Amino acid sequence: MYRASSVFLGTFLLLQLLHCGMGLDNGLALTPPMGWMSWERFRCLTDCELYPNECISEQLFRRHADLLVTEGYADAGYEYIIIDDCWLEKDRDNKSQKLVADKQRFPNGLNPLADHIHNIGLKFGLYQDYGTNTCAGFPGVIKHMQLDAQTFADWDVDYVKLDGCYANISDMAVGYPEFGRLLNATGRPMVYSCSWPAYQEDAGEMPDYTSLKQHCNLWRNWDDIDDSLESVAQIMDYFGKNQDRIQPHAGPGHWNDPDMLLLGNYGLSYDQSKLQMAIWSIMAAPLIMSNDLAAVRPEIKDILQNRKVIAVDQDVLGIQGRRVLSKNQIEVWSRPITPVVSNNQHSYAVAFASRRSDGAPYRIVFTLKELGLHNAAGYDVEDLYDDTSKLGIFRPANQFITRVNPNGVNFYKFTAL
Ligand code: GLA
Repeated sequence: MYRASSVFLGTFLLLQLLHCGMGLDNGLALTPPMGWMSWERFRCLTDCELYPNECISEQLFRRHADLLVTEGYADAGYEYIIIDDCWLEKDRDNKSQKLVADKQRFPNGLNPLADHIHNIGLKFGLYQDYGTNTCAGFPGVIKHMQLDAQTFADWDVDYVKLDGCYANISDMAVGYPEFGRLLNATGRPMVYSCSWPAYQEDAGEMPDYTSLKQHCNLWRNWDDIDDSLESVAQIMDYFGKNQDRIQPHAGPGHWNDPDMLLLGNYGLSYDQSKLQMAIWSIMAAPLIMSNDLAAVRPEIKDILQNRKVIAVDQDVLGIQGRRVLSKNQIEVWSRPITPVVSNNQHSYAVAFASRRSDGAPYRIVFTLKELGLHNAAGYDVEDLYDDTSKLGIFRPANQFITRVNPNGVNFYKFTAL
């Protein structure tokens, strides 16, 4: 008995050790990360004389950290303030070879900014690149991986986005996990966002998702988002077409990342903003805004802070949704969520997304069965964008009828009974 249990304990410890040595296993991002990141809206604006409120600088990130709290986003779950590209000096420190933040735009280095972010209850994210240079041409990590991982830990970083410009694509499947191991070895828990599949897919290679989810907390699968509905639609199409290959790999601790939320910027209408937020929530996407938080109109802020939609995104089961059907340019996207009732019947979030541009709201009729909702006891249905609406109880044979605005979305929760 004694021998059996000690052999068992030894084997268990050995397996644990191997597991820690092999995987990321940092216990982070059990639901998709939420926060704010500079790239989509502020790009590589570095001229602080011309654009004092927009340039990539300590001031930009302090301002947005503060706004995240004062404008109520932090209460809604947004947590990470992430510096994207263009924060670095063009050269490493001559002696130590350490990365150096731009001395004009981050005159105090990154520690005081990290302290401020932490003091107001938020977390701090930072961009780097696996290659020789970042996409905007600043020094990358490739020859200094250990030093840089330790520097991130010394700067109290909580989230690392590692891009893949100026890198050898064939090295990535080994190099990205290696950098994740080095982050882990610092002892500081850091969410690890990988861009390696986006570069492989662009080059026509199929990423190894089994390895990805073992080594990264989230990963960019596809192209960068831009400020337009076309860009949102292209990403939706990529995820819709490739869902059999991609969707099964999402789950607590490891997520597909369709890129940032555009809401609050120039390119999306009110209806289109609701559309992106709904589809991103169905996709269990990281909800990382990139906008000027001081300029977000109240009705768009309401969408970004809609607790019921956020709850879909953050559902504890972590099952990514899918595009389940498409008819007359109305796409139905559906995601199994809690509560789960007897016979293992899930509740569902269902988005009816219009790809139509003809002016009138378009009437659609589906039975619940056609939507894949088979719970015999039925579902209690509510409109996630309308607090006052209770649509009542629907059973699998019942018809569900709704009208969807052009380029808009209707978004419902079907709670299983
Ligand atoms: C790549 C990434 C973007 C952004 C830029 C920065 O294009 O995909 O998200 O980080 O680089 O240069």
